[in-house]
Parts: sequence; structure tokens; C-alpha cells
Amino acid sequence: MKALLLESVNSSPVYKEVEKPKPAENEVLVKIAAAALNHRDIYISQGLYPGIVTPIILGSDGAGTVVELGINVGKEFLNREVIINPNINWGANPKVQDKKYNILGMPSNGTLAEYVCVNVDRLSDKPAHLNFAEAASIPLAGLTAYRSLFTKAALQKGERLLISGIGGGVALTAFQMALAIGAEVWVSSGTDDKIEQAVKLGAKGGINYKTENWHKELEKIAGGGFDVILDSAGGEGFQYFLDLANPAGRIVFYGGTRGSFKVNPQKMFWKQLTIFGSTMGDDHDFDKMISLFKDYQIVPFVKDIRPLSDASAAFKDIDEGRQFGKLVLIP
Ligand SMILES: NC(=O)c1ccc[n+]([C@@H]2O[C@H](COP(=O)([O-])OP(=O)(O)OC[C@H]3O[C@@H](n4cnc5c(N)ncnc54)[C@H](OP(=O)(O)O)[C@@H]3O)[C@@H](O)[C@H]2O)c1
Repeated sequence: MKALLLESVNSSPVYKEVEKPKPAENEVLVKIAAAALNHRDIYISQGLYPGIVTPIILGSDGAGTVVELGINVGKEFLNREVIINPNINWGANPKVQDKKYNILGMPSNGTLAEYVCVNVDRLSDKPAHLNFAEAASIPLAGLTAYRSLFTKAALQKGERLLISGIGGGVALTAFQMALAIGAEVWVSSGTDDKIEQAVKLGAKGGINYKTENWHKELEKIAGGGFDVILDSAGGEGFQYFLDLANPAGRIVFYGGTRGSFKVNPQKMFWKQLTIFGSTMGDDHDFDKMISLFKDYQIVPFVKDIRPLSDASAAFKDIDEGRQFGKLVLIP
């Protein structure tokens, strides 16, 4: 089969012929109809991830059809159209993943290929309102966004939410979920055009985080603070979230693209703020996330669909932050 193989760290993944996998006991072979990229794939290819093993087929997001069953798998799974849950070995504690936890697409071979083998319990039926490209855009971003917004920050209808870096894959998915449940959403971005697009899609407004004193500007434009703030950048700008949070506000972050951040303890305790770190989500979060997509008929934003053989250009686009919507690759 053809696959996108990362042969060594700090090299570009290569589109090449590799051996087609065989499903082991309790596994199925999924013929990938569409796979989506995440920043994780780029970080791994750049060596910016712990415990990298090579050669490896990257890719955590995929949707397709079950075409072969391993032993102990019921015949009812054959020909099912599925989304793959990328969680592996979360464990029994809903609050935190087990030490053995990992994510599909490193260290086990992932979805950027014609076929992938996964345990049968990783399958979720493709929602009927989504095509394969849309379905493939959901898993990693949807799970991260769901747990951050709902399991951690308990976002409620009518609350004011600030999503920083709206161009991000997780950020945009969170945006759709929050709008669906009736939150009032404000955004930030390093690109004015992305803010305009978000406003067209339902955001109340936004601020370019490169603006001087952006947090003061935003407070002025928004006419007050926020009940929930969602971030993946960290770094210098994070400290201002404590100013922007309403009393009893919740700040939740799932990434640290811009590095460490400072927290003013007085602001935090006086305003009774909570800061949550969040990673992926357990299988319960995954099921609730899929239900949310179905209940509100949410259709993920797909920016572009390209052949898997053209993946290097898509990797570059994500690395340079050009995307607004998921980049989907078709084997
Ligand atoms: N913990 C987890 O489970 C988990 C899951 C998924 C992702 N992550 C991490 O979260 C981060 C984002 O992942 P992703 O896949 O959504 O990446 P992505 O699609 O590449 O998005 C990254 C976004 O970060 C935003 N950004 C850059 N500098 C910023 C700043 N100074 N302030 C605010 N936003 C800034 C940009 O938004 P604009 O383009 O709008 O400027 C950019 O689009 C990565 O570090 C990733 O490793 C963690």
C-alpha cells in the first residue's frame, strides 16, 4: 500500500510503498477514505515530541470503511463506515490518562496511508450528516476541544467565551461547538482576515494578538470580560487572560506553542479563577463529542482536500499557520 512514512526525525515524510498491515486479534483493517492533519504530525516530523520512534506512518485522524476483520471480531463490523478514536490505553481514570497512554500515529502506525489497523473498540460510526473528509477532521481536534470546553471548563449556554488563535485546528472546532450550544464567542488571531472569517461565522468580534495592549483593546471592544478562556499558545500573552477573565472565570489550555507563562497570584486568588490544563480526552469524552456533532449537525470546516502524495505542501501550510479549517489528505 502507499503511505506517508517518516523515516527519521527532522526529515520530510516520504510518500512510498510499504507493506499492507494485517489485523491482529481484536483488530480491524480500515481502508482510509480521508485523513486529516494536526500540528502534532508536524511537531513529530520536526523532532519536537517526546519518545519519537521511526520509521512511522503519522496521522491521528482518519475515517474510512472496515474491509478486513481480525480473529474475535464480529462480522457485523465488516463494511462499516467509521471514524477512528485515536486514544490508545487511556486507562480507567477519567481524570487523567494512564502512563501507557499514547495517540494513534506514533508510536503505532497512523492514518496517513491507504490502510490502518486499529482495535475494534476504537471504531465509532461515521455520523450520517458528514462525508468522509468532514468525518476525518473531527477526532483529535474534536476530542481536545470537547474535554477542554465542557469536561474541564463546564462552558454553559449564554456564557462569554474567548478563544485565542482561532486559526488553530482545535480552536476552530471548539468555536463550532461553543456556537452550537449558544455561548457568546470572541476570538483572537495573528491575522485580521481570520478574525473577519470568524465574525462571518458567528463570533461576536475579535482582536489581533499582535496589537499593542491587545487585552485592553479587547476588553473595550467586548464591553467586559469572559467567563471561559481557551488557549493553546501560552507564552507572554497568557498573563493577560487573568485580567480578561470574569470573577470565578475558567482558563483552559491544551498547548504551549509560545512557551512558558507567568501568573499573577493576587489576580488569580482574588478573582477566584481556575486554570485547567487539558489533554485529549477519555473514551467517554470521545462519545459525548461525537454526540454533540450529531445533535447539533455540526459540519467541521475543511479548508482543503489534497492527495496524500501532496502532503509535504500541507505540512508546510500548517507549520506556517496559513490554514483556517482542516487540511484533509486522500490516499
Ligand atoms: N493537549 C492536547 O491534547 C493537544 C491536542 C491538540 C493540540 N495540542 C497542541 O495545541 C497547539 C495547537 O494545536 P493545533 O493542532 O490546533 O495547531 P494549529 O492548527 O497549527 O494551530 C496553531 C495556532 O496557534 C495560534 N497561535 C500562534 N501564536 C499565537 C499566540 N501568540 N497567541 C494565540 N494564538 C497563537 C495560531 O492562531 P492564528 O492563526 O489565529 O494566529 C495558529 O493557528 C499545538 O501546540 C499542539 O501541539 C495539544
